[in-house]
Amino acid sequence: MPIFTLDGQNIPFEPGQTIMEAAMAAGVYIPHLCWYPEYEPHGSCKLCSVKVNGRLCSACTFPAAEGQEVVLNSEELQQLRLRLTQMLFVEGNHFCPYCEKSGQCELQALGYYVGMTDNHFPHFFPKREIDASHPDVLLDRDRCIFCGLCVRASRDEGKHVFELAGRGIETHLIVNSATGKLGDSELGASDRAAHICPVGAIVVKETAFRVPIGRRKYDHRTIAEMSLEEEAPLVRRRHDAKEEG
Ligand code: SF4
Ligand code: FES
Repeated sequence: MPIFTLDGQNIPFEPGQTIMEAAMAAGVYIPHLCWYPEYEPHGSCKLCSVKVNGRLCSACTFPAAEGQEVVLNSEELQQLRLRLTQMLFVEGNHFCPYCEKSGQCELQALGYYVGMTDNHFPHFFPKREIDASHPDVLLDRDRCIFCGLCVRASRDEGKHVFELAGRGIETHLIVNSATGKLGDSELGASDRAAHICPVGAIVVKETAFRVPIGRRKYDHRTIAEMSLEEEAPLVRRRHDAKEEG
């Protein structure tokens, strides 16, 4: 197999794989929020930023190539990931201590992973609409980080319930229904799109706080450990499925 190096470690890859896919399959965690192995990459959060032969790239979209020298953990890139994470916190309204996703939230877990101890930037406190119109699913836009995973999941399910609209700080999540309300959309509680949100923006009702503190996903394990355990096998499965078909 061809190889590239990541922080000096040899990473084998299959032609067509991205740097993210190859690294995860090799057991090397690259921080990410908008990437999930089952969906096409979105390339929006930039937390997967690496330097490839000295050039800044998104590992989730950049194709792996023989002989590349990839840097992940330089001081500069660690600082960049910290600032990007802090920006995500101040751009939305995230109140971890009483959020039902606390302990199971990828943004919160990433905050711990990158060593975030303050927000660094002033809070935006944006005004965003909460949509509780669906009988089974709550949409709390305050917590949305615009990763687009619900958009891709719903699109792949053939329903197209969610879409991102606007640009920059005006970006917002819209719902495909006559009224724009989730309750009038085709979303079902068992849809993948209702469960893929990495933060607490889309949550299934009447499931909050069921897992006690101490037994939540990230209470004892880091996002790096959980991601490698859960997502690395999906990278391999997706690659095998592509090969077969
Ligand atoms: Fe991502 Fe969740 Fe926002 Fe959808 S609602 S874009 S999954 S953060
Ligand atoms: Fe690569 Fe979000 S994970 S840009």
